[in-house]
Amino acid sequence: MTGGAGYIGGHVVAALQLRGESVVVVDDLSTGVPERVSGLPLVSCDLASDDAADQVEAVLREHEVHAVVHLAAKKQVGESVERPAWYYRQNVGGLANLLLGMESAGVSDLVFSSSAAVYGSGTGEPARESDTPEPINPYGETKLAGEWMVGGAVRAGWLRAVSLRYFNVAGAGSELLADRFATNLIPIAFERLRAGEAPRVFGDDYPTPDGTCIRDYVHVADLADAHLAVLDALAAGGPVPAAVNVGTGTGYSVFEVLATIRDVTGIATPPIVGARRPGDPATLIADASRIGAELGWSARFGLREIIASAWDGFRAARAA
Ligand SMILES: NC(=O)c1ccc[n+]([C@@H]2O[C@H](COP(=O)([O-])OP(=O)(O)OC[C@H]3O[C@@H](n4cnc5c(N)ncnc54)[C@H](O)[C@@H]3O)[C@@H](O)[C@H]2O)c1
Repeated sequence: MTGGAGYIGGHVVAALQLRGESVVVVDDLSTGVPERVSGLPLVSCDLASDDAADQVEAVLREHEVHAVVHLAAKKQVGESVERPAWYYRQNVGGLANLLLGMESAGVSDLVFSSSAAVYGSGTGEPARESDTPEPINPYGETKLAGEWMVGGAVRAGWLRAVSLRYFNVAGAGSELLADRFATNLIPIAFERLRAGEAPRVFGDDYPTPDGTCIRDYVHVADLADAHLAVLDALAAGGPVPAAVNVGTGTGYSVFEVLATIRDVTGIATPPIVGARRPGDPATLIADASRIGAELGWSARFGLREIIASAWDGFRAARAA
């Protein structure tokens, strides 16, 4: 697994370990936390570095790996706008090195972490995998380019792969696994409430029922299970979909999320509403039917459980 020391990777590792699988982690620890994968072989490698393909091949051979889950990537939209070439080198170059190493080692099964960012602004309707992807920032472009590269290797005949298009991932399985970087609505709101500040809302004049943006929140533990479903489908050897959405199919507005945060935390500081941020689509919800039909996965947890688990993880991490 690449990126196993990260927020989502730590949860996927835990899910794999729960069912007794051996895991080797490749991670440069640029945002990862080694304690998340303590006890496992951890190979420190920047996948975008010049010798990464050779390093990947050696790791795959040494550990007799039969399938790869590729989560390692940079994921901050704003940073990708400021440093597009670096994002391409990290995310697209890193994937190219991984694929070269896999091909040399003869490893043919891959789960690739893609993103709802490939849909860009969306259509306002639930996003379907058959929609034409139109990313609106370099981060989303690197994920779409990654899907194309993976698709090319599949068509070349040596790779079997599924790209998982994650929607808004949140929640935590434990304090150690909690998201450490406040780059999403829920952890940012926690940080502000903890500091005695009002949560911020970027625009309440969108064409949605309460005027705030609507997103599809998926619990990170459910997301981890989606990886297991893909690995099982790949191992079974039958046909697999090229790309599937991982979401619940239900959207919540920013005000609804903040109201649930208020209920869960008991902190009633009212939000302050500011101007829209450029590039935020009004509504981005998954059509989650393909992953249900083709991989038998559906989300078990709803918004309240997501927020409650994230709050537990946040509080425990701050108390530590
Ligand atoms: N968190 C989300 O909401 C979300 C949504 C959609 C897609 N994704 C994708 O899921 C994946 C994991 O995201 P996350 O939230 O766990 O992020 P994260 O930053 O917590 O984890 C990324 C991991 O990859 C490692 N890494 C980064 N660049 C690397 C490189 N060049 N070589 C080796 N290791 C490297 C980091 O050290 C870290 O452990 C990413 O591909 C991200 O784009 C995340």
